[in-house]
Amino acid sequence: MSEQMQTPEKKPIVLSGIQPSGLITIGNYLGAVKNWSEIQEKYNCLFMIANLHATTVRQDPAALRRNTLEGYAMLLACGIDPERSIVFIQSQNPHHAELMWALNCFTQFGELSRMTQFKDKSAKYSDNINAGLFTYPVLMAADILLYQANLVPVGADQNQHVELARDIVKRVNGIMGNVFTEPECLFPKAGAKIMSLNDPTKKMSKSDPNPKGYVAVLDPRDTIIKKFKSAVTDSGSGIYRADDKAGISNLMTIYSAFTGKTDEQIVAEFEGKGYGDFKVAVGEVVADAVAPVQSRFNELMADKAYLEKCYTEGAEKAMRISRRTRDKVYKKMGFTL
Ligand code: TYM
Repeated sequence: MSEQMQTPEKKPIVLSGIQPSGLITIGNYLGAVKNWSEIQEKYNCLFMIANLHATTVRQDPAALRRNTLEGYAMLLACGIDPERSIVFIQSQNPHHAELMWALNCFTQFGELSRMTQFKDKSAKYSDNINAGLFTYPVLMAADILLYQANLVPVGADQNQHVELARDIVKRVNGIMGNVFTEPECLFPKAGAKIMSLNDPTKKMSKSDPNPKGYVAVLDPRDTIIKKFKSAVTDSGSGIYRADDKAGISNLMTIYSAFTGKTDEQIVAEFEGKGYGDFKVAVGEVVADAVAPVQSRFNELMADKAYLEKCYTEGAEKAMRISRRTRDKVYKKMGFTL
């Protein structure tokens, strides 16, 4: 065998994260986590529970600790393999906060003021517009750049943050030489933006005060089907995608993402059928798909020692990689190490 053939193939690096906000919706699942489990073979992947990000809104410490563990178990339950990917908890690797400080000094006030998530969240939590909420995208840039990630698999709502990370890379590399890799978003084929079931003009969100708006991966089968049955649709008929059929279009996206069927196949399957039939069919497909995730999640939560072993090892592996970038940047900045 030639020397070249023995060299292991250098796969692109992937990093992504999810906040531990108590539950994972099918928006999170289709926009991100399902995709993560499918790309593990193709790329060198790192996935993390972004618990530092979660504290930009007030958290009860005990609940945050529990949600972090549940979020971690959920990633494994969704098929992320801690032997193949590095799966860790953000707060266990101090390099994230350390690199963030350096990047803060290369990010402009004006850039952060333009972030739509900051504008939305500061309107929603007007009594707590803290500095962390404002600099949240800098921490996200640090998450990505620490590992020199090439690809960031996220839903459409995170695009603006990844764009900011790219701008930071260009700026820092222009000043310090090539210290960072420029990341790109990786969107799923279907499901990059799942809309709320009770208002299909709004993104499905786990912080929706009305639980009818979202379906959680851990919702019981009956609840899932009930929520789809009550999904808001227009007063027309016919199952097809159209601008004035936001509700049906969203249900088609969900059905397509879970079954792999194209729009044409869905239209043919439901020809002559009503909205009611379609809603039940979508509910059943979703309930069937999440059932094995739910049982795996329950098994994992019953084995805390295994989870602890996985996240401890995950953090060690993550730190071994991120230390290189943190040290390089700190040296270039003139910090004594
Ligand atoms: P978070 O926790 O809000 O969401 C996790 C992932 O789910 C996607 N998502 C959706 N996709 C489709 N339709 C929806 N309705 C929907 N709602 C959420 C999000 O796009 C995301 O991919 N800032 C991130 C977490 C993070 C991160 C990172 C991501 C922290 N550091 C570094 C990538 C790289 C967040 O709050 O995601």
